[in-house]
Amino acid sequence: MKNFYLPEAAKIIEVVREAPNVKWFKVRFVNKKIQQNFHFWHGQFAMVGLPGYDEAPFDICSNPLRSTEYIEFTIRKVGRLTSRLVQLQKGDLLWIRGPFGRGWPSLFKLPKKNLLVVGGGCGFVPLRSVIEEAAEQLSSERQLQVFYGCRNTEELLFENRYKDWQKKGVKLNVIFSEEKPRNKTVYGAPCSYGLVTKLFDEVEIIKNASAFLCGPPVMFKFVLKKLKEKKFADQDIYLSLERKMDCGIGICQHCACGEIYICKDGPVFNYAEIKNIPNIF
Ligand SMILES: Cc1cc2nc3c(=O)[nH]c(=O)nc-3n(C[C@H](O)[C@H](O)[C@H](O)COP(=O)(O)OP(=O)(O)OC[C@H]3O[C@@H](n4cnc5c(N)ncnc54)[C@H](O)[C@@H]3O)c2cc1C
Ligand code: FES
Repeated sequence: MKNFYLPEAAKIIEVVREAPNVKWFKVRFVNKKIQQNFHFWHGQFAMVGLPGYDEAPFDICSNPLRSTEYIEFTIRKVGRLTSRLVQLQKGDLLWIRGPFGRGWPSLFKLPKKNLLVVGGGCGFVPLRSVIEEAAEQLSSERQLQVFYGCRNTEELLFENRYKDWQKKGVKLNVIFSEEKPRNKTVYGAPCSYGLVTKLFDEVEIIKNASAFLCGPPVMFKFVLKKLKEKKFADQDIYLSLERKMDCGIGICQHCACGEIYICKDGPVFNYAEIKNIPNIF
């Protein structure tokens, strides 16, 4: 039986500097059997740690269809552990427990055929695994629209993936909140200036869609208002929430919010489930 308390060593096989304090890591478990049997669901997280430092939750941002080959994380330097993690190089080890939590629902089980993904800042990280997987499954019947709000060009995440996503049919729009873009496109994606909510007025929204959201708490309030204006039902909206976590498996209470635990009942919730919980965002 799998022991969720036991961290497994993983080797870094690629590192990319995404933004001034953000690095993307591709890793593979040292034990080949563990990698071959590793499966996660988009939107799930893992506890990543370093002996002598700490461990903390990080979203798995790779394509779940490649989970038996490698996994990817995108880490922002904010404190003790993350300052050390972003210094790691190709060939270094880190330790992983998981995957944990409830992720985004299966794209094939959603009552609506199409998907609108809205991400703000680092909230774009857990949405990347959805985009990577959905982009491989798009057809003339099933469309994916992505709105990504970011501060400026320097902070842009995953720009080396935009052309590939768009080639596969993803409709991607980027919007900068702090910098007027010099061109109308950024890495092939239409780009404008303002908050991510402005895209709801600038761009035609795909019909018959569910919405997946992740971003800073203030973003949820305003994006939800726009979705309501566009007649999205509560049941068709899913959000990924973040809280400080310790155990990641519903034991320590660090992430408790009323009757729910963000770590095991979430981090992804249907809006109808949580909309009446006070201070949930
Ligand atoms: C489900 C989940 C998924 C996450 N995914 C990612 C990810 O993909 N990439 C990423 O870079 N980070 C992610 N985080 C946040 C990450 O876990 C924290 O940044 C990390 O714990 C910081 O550890 P530290 O030792 O470097 O900072 P600390 O020294 O512990 O703290 C530094 C500062 O960051 C604040 N902080 C710590 N944790 C959080 C948090 N969860 N939310 C808000 N503020 C916090 C502290 O209050 C403090 O001000 C995720 C968190 C959760 C709960
Ligand atoms: S992190 Fe321990 S209960 Fe959720």
